[in-house]
Amino acid sequence: MTFLIFNFPSPSPLGTSFIKLIEGEEGHFLLKEFPDKETYLRLQSSPKGRHIIINASLFHPNIKIVNLIFLADTLRHQGGEQIGLLTPYLPYMRQDKVFQTGEALTSAIFAKLLSNHFDYLVTIDPHLHRYASLNEIYSIPTKVIHAAPLLSTWIQENVSNPFIIGPDQESAQWVKAVAGNHPFIVLNKIRHPEGHVDISWPKDVDIKNKTPILVDDIISSGGTMIQALHYLKQLGTNPPLCLAIHPLFAGNAYRDILKAGAEKVITCNTLPHPTNQIDVAPLLVEGLLNVT
Ligand code: R5P
Repeated sequence: MTFLIFNFPSPSPLGTSFIKLIEGEEGHFLLKEFPDKETYLRLQSSPKGRHIIINASLFHPNIKIVNLIFLADTLRHQGGEQIGLLTPYLPYMRQDKVFQTGEALTSAIFAKLLSNHFDYLVTIDPHLHRYASLNEIYSIPTKVIHAAPLLSTWIQENVSNPFIIGPDQESAQWVKAVAGNHPFIVLNKIRHPEGHVDISWPKDVDIKNKTPILVDDIISSGGTMIQALHYLKQLGTNPPLCLAIHPLFAGNAYRDILKAGAEKVITCNTLPHPTNQIDVAPLLVEGLLNVT
């Protein structure tokens, strides 16, 4: 059966190439705002009896989540048989613990919300730190796709003498896979409650004549990359590269990372950004065909 695929909130280059690769049919809907900022939504493609995929870009989730749920429920009410959510970047995964009394466990609340409206979820490298798997908070089937092989191939094809650096213990789970046969190291990071980051560098690591490549799942404020770049500057290494899967780049993060000494920043197109060089569309297709 051909998937009927809705790109949400609007068409994107990744969405277009995903639909083409999976040979799906693009679904259309009209989304407007009333003067009082409430939503008007009308389907322009019939979902009756169809297997639906909503390919959602959920960066800046708060302004999108209500409309996403309106779309999913409208598709179901009008006869959609299966409603799958494909979100290359899954937000709200980093608040995976109540760190201070009274905090909301937003990862779990967000998971419950999505689980109530979708039949399954496919995503790329969600931030799994204190949760071992998405099943701890999502009650629907989930499929996690890993971008490490794509990062590894990019390094293989573009850097002759790489030294892979994971900026914190959380990165240990995939830095080894990214590095392949190349040397790698995982650093220790402490994030202070006000957001400032400290990274410690082991003494006996020799990266002379190599190209340091900092690899992280997410770049948000850029604080993690910037601290690691400061250490590399002190060590006098070759100009470093930064590689990331999800380029959130809050505020001036991208500019600040370049200012801190990154020669280049390379990212996957899980979110659109000028640094996108690694296309995840083939991975999305593979992931979807494995969950459905
Ligand atoms: C969390 O520990 C993640 O793996 C990233 O290191 C983190 O989200 C990066 O955030 P920021 O760019 O704000 O330091």
